[in-house]
Amino acid sequence: MFRIVLATLALSAALSAQITFNAERKLWFLSTATSTCVLGVNERNELQTVYWGAPITREADFPAAHSTPERSSFDPSETRTREEYPGWGGRRFFEPALKISRADGDRDLVLKYASYTIANDSLTIHLKDIHDDIGVSLFYKLHDGVLEKSSKIDNNTHQEFTIESAQSGVWSMPPGDGYKLTYVSGRWAAESQLHQEPIHPGMKILESRRGTTSHNMNPWFMIDQGETTEEHGNVWFGALGSSGNWRLTVEETPYQEVRVTGGYNPFDFGIVLKPGESLSTPPFYGGFSDRGYGGASRTLHRFEREAIFPGGVQSRLRPVLYNSWEATTFHVDEPGQKALAAKAAALGVELFVIDDGWFGARNDDHAGLGDWVVNKKKFPNDLQPLIAEVNRLGMDFGLWVEPEMVNPNSDLYRAHPDWVMNFTGRPRSELRNQLILNLAKPEVKEYIFGFLDRLASTYNIRYFKWDMNRSFSEPGWPGAANQKAIWIDYVLAYYDILDRLRAKHPKLEIEGCSGGGGRIDLGVLKRVDEVWTSDNTEAFDRLRIQEGFSYAYAPKVMSAWVTDVPNMNGRSVPLQFRFLVAMQGALGIGANLNRWSEADTALAKKMIALDKEIRQTVQTGALYRLLSPRTSDVIANQYVSGDGRQSVLFAFRHAQQFDLPAEAIHLEGLAPQAVYGLQYLNGRTAELSGAYLMRHGVDVNLRGDYDSTSVVITRR
Ligand code: DGJ
Repeated sequence: MFRIVLATLALSAALSAQITFNAERKLWFLSTATSTCVLGVNERNELQTVYWGAPITREADFPAAHSTPERSSFDPSETRTREEYPGWGGRRFFEPALKISRADGDRDLVLKYASYTIANDSLTIHLKDIHDDIGVSLFYKLHDGVLEKSSKIDNNTHQEFTIESAQSGVWSMPPGDGYKLTYVSGRWAAESQLHQEPIHPGMKILESRRGTTSHNMNPWFMIDQGETTEEHGNVWFGALGSSGNWRLTVEETPYQEVRVTGGYNPFDFGIVLKPGESLSTPPFYGGFSDRGYGGASRTLHRFEREAIFPGGVQSRLRPVLYNSWEATTFHVDEPGQKALAAKAAALGVELFVIDDGWFGARNDDHAGLGDWVVNKKKFPNDLQPLIAEVNRLGMDFGLWVEPEMVNPNSDLYRAHPDWVMNFTGRPRSELRNQLILNLAKPEVKEYIFGFLDRLASTYNIRYFKWDMNRSFSEPGWPGAANQKAIWIDYVLAYYDILDRLRAKHPKLEIEGCSGGGGRIDLGVLKRVDEVWTSDNTEAFDRLRIQEGFSYAYAPKVMSAWVTDVPNMNGRSVPLQFRFLVAMQGALGIGANLNRWSEADTALAKKMIALDKEIRQTVQTGALYRLLSPRTSDVIANQYVSGDGRQSVLFAFRHAQQFDLPAEAIHLEGLAPQAVYGLQYLNGRTAELSGAYLMRHGVDVNLRGDYDSTSVVITRR
């Protein structure tokens, strides 16, 4: 037997991550510190998933891959064999990874193993159809705790064919029953609502057909088996880096095989590949944790900070931001914004952002989108004096844009009505009085890059808030050879603009926004520094939204504002509660500071100062969700810094009944023998051991409705 260690990750944090190949048994072992994935070629030359789950380091344990025998004429071998990337063809009846249609109507595609290559921390396995020169390259890349999969389909034949479904990859659970799925659903202003449900035979579809990621569902999953809790038990997880129409198919076959197939949504899909052309699919990341949902989230968060977020671990902490949208809406002008800037700076704000309304004829949402020139009625001296004043006050300046959109009432639309997506002669449906520019058109992409580049070059802009306030409708591309390509080409153009902008303006930071949380995924998060979590800034609702968000995404990128009350659902929670909720992400203030009392201002200063003391721990530390807003009257989250020296507890009370005190909160992630100093928000201090804090718990003494506190815990 011979065994080749083909690649190891250089990262010290991931020393145990490596790819090895056993040539005798044709097995690949892809290992991270927390998971092992084994692939193999069976006796029919099909690529199989042999194993995915907790680390198994002894390679000799695994025999060569072998197909599952046929059981009856209705249960052929191929449909029972766990293929890693099945084409639709032969005797296969479950969700395919790839489905094509040839010009002559032939749709059979049977993919067999051809070859493999290794480069650094990546493995590529090549598959080929049994008859035609249609190739599929499967890419695998190891990260710290996470394995990345994607695919590329190549037409090496002399005839074009249409791809009807192209998936990034398939994640197969170990065979068995009793799995449970965790995912989020939602809508505008109520994103990221968490669901947990048993997986039964059949298919469960998580998807977007809106052109963007969507508020309705988000492209990630967790699957567990048995008695998994927040901190205990096995969790398999995955997330797509896809900002367009995506789909995850969670499928349990009649043979108790659970698999998740993910990639482009096959809905209205149809990519024509001419000879020599290829199609690449978005990355599909997956991993495993034996530390419950919390462990799975922490693995994802660490991976995102290291491998997804722009700048990686070197990127700066998110600054405290002020955004004037909820204070002034469209009524922005130089004196008003300067007055707010002065108040924001006095609070300790570091980044001042003007939102919608500064450009074109933008007095409400009926006009102006597309005309990215400063509105001279509102800013007769242009933006320079305001920006100079913001900078003089010690803050960076940020500007809101909605580049993909146009109001029919705009100079841009009057000049280029053909730039919007539309079906010739059919209605152009408006949402918020706006239409969508077809970014897939090169001239549209250049226009958008051009005006953003001009703004970033002309003004001292540190930050764009890039908004997107509607879903696709009538996604037509008149004149294009293949109109359905709009679903993919639009997203690639969006990415391209962001990439070029960042490359040309390396200090520029970008907030991704889509009417709140309509475009949050690992594709956009490679290109933006934070994302707007939800237009719902009501602090108690936010606890639920933020909890769902935190399952997949790290707190660092979770933009969270303190706003005025009563908020959109009529509730008025105390300012301290609002701050403590928002301080669990990238803190922003969105309130009308002109209306704040002296007491509000004093409290805000204190909370912002506290935020600066603890934000490194919140933004880059390990999150423990101690008590959930879904199940508990007392809600608590704890963050532990990378070096274990600081921890922060946030605790909230919702509805106290019968004068019962809040229970002690059991902390996590501390050293049992170490002694910690506790600084409560109300000034109280204490000194307690890690063992006491984790086993006995912290008494937070929350009594009334919407009471709240934080405790900063410092290792002595
Ligand atoms: C929707 C965003 O989510 C809000 O924060 C704000 O920027 C408005 N658009 C402005 O029109």
